Amino acid sequence: MAMTAARKAAWVLVVWALAAAAGLGSASARAPLVGSSSKPQREFDYFALSLQWPGTICASTRHCCAINGCCRSEPLQTFTIHGLWPDYDDGTWPSCCRRTQFDLDKILPLMETLQKYWPSLYCSSSSTCFSGKGLFWAHEVQKHGTCSAPVVQDELQYFTIALDLYFKYNVTEMLSSGGIQISNGKEYALSDVIDTIKHAFGGSPQIVCKKGSIQELRLCFDKELKPRDCLTTSLTNGSVSSKKHCPQYISLPSYDPLGKLANKNI
Ligand SMILES: *[C@@H]1O[C@H](CO)[C@@H](O)[C@H](O)[C@H]1NC(C)=O
Ligand SMILES: *[C@@H]1O[C@H](CO)[C@@H](O)[C@H](O)[C@H]1NC(C)=O
Repeated sequence: MAMTAARKAAWVLVVWALAAAAGLGSASARAPLVGSSSKPQREFDYFALSLQWPGTICASTRHCCAINGCCRSEPLQTFTIHGLWPDYDDGTWPSCCRRTQFDLDKILPLMETLQKYWPSLYCSSSSTCFSGKGLFWAHEVQKHGTCSAPVVQDELQYFTIALDLYFKYNVTEMLSSGGIQISNGKEYALSDVIDTIKHAFGGSPQIVCKKGSIQELRLCFDKELKPRDCLTTSLTNGSVSSKKHCPQYISLPSYDPLGKLANKNI
């Protein structure tokens, strides 16, 4: 039976709506805009899951605001996520590979988990690509997520993969199973921390320090998301300033709750 014109129009509308719902509609949003400064960058070689130690970062928090995880009444006592970063084997990395709109709605199902384990540890808004400003999450997915193809295809997948890796490879647990219990004021031999992670994880981590405390610990993954060595275990002079270099003995400090400060300054 032939469709009437009206029915046909309705059918076209339904097909269009389904296509949009399936994500076909967002394909154009992912394509570089005409005249954009983003240039094609070659495919990355491996991922670094960069974790931060709030005790080191929050110690220098001077003022508080709602988005800053350092300002919670309960101090953060676990590694939190900084980002999942695509890297090249030569020590460089791609960034800001495509223009995209950050869409908070797309990651609403993850919101509680993101707030808990992937908080910003600063009050200032983060730079996003192409001179924008936005949430810490927008910064991470726009700067790094857009360069994570073909492993990462979209915003939701970027956060899902990072969270999955974070839960699968629990650094606190790896350290404690190797006899390293995190405790304020304690010092650990850097080589013990590295060897313990290496043994439990199956690849050497990269560790960034600030004044002798661990600021970041990075776990590296190949493109099948299997553990691999990071390029260096502790940053040397090469690509990063020696300020971030770790001494032979390092600490994982805790910090005083900033709750009172938060109330005063919000
Ligand atoms: C990691 O393991 C520790 C110790 O078992 C646990 O307290 C913590 O909740 C775990 N973190 C995550 C993100 O699963
Ligand atoms: C790092 O810098 C120090 C002092 O600037 C220098 O003596 C040392 O050789 C450098 N190490 C590497 C690996 O480049």
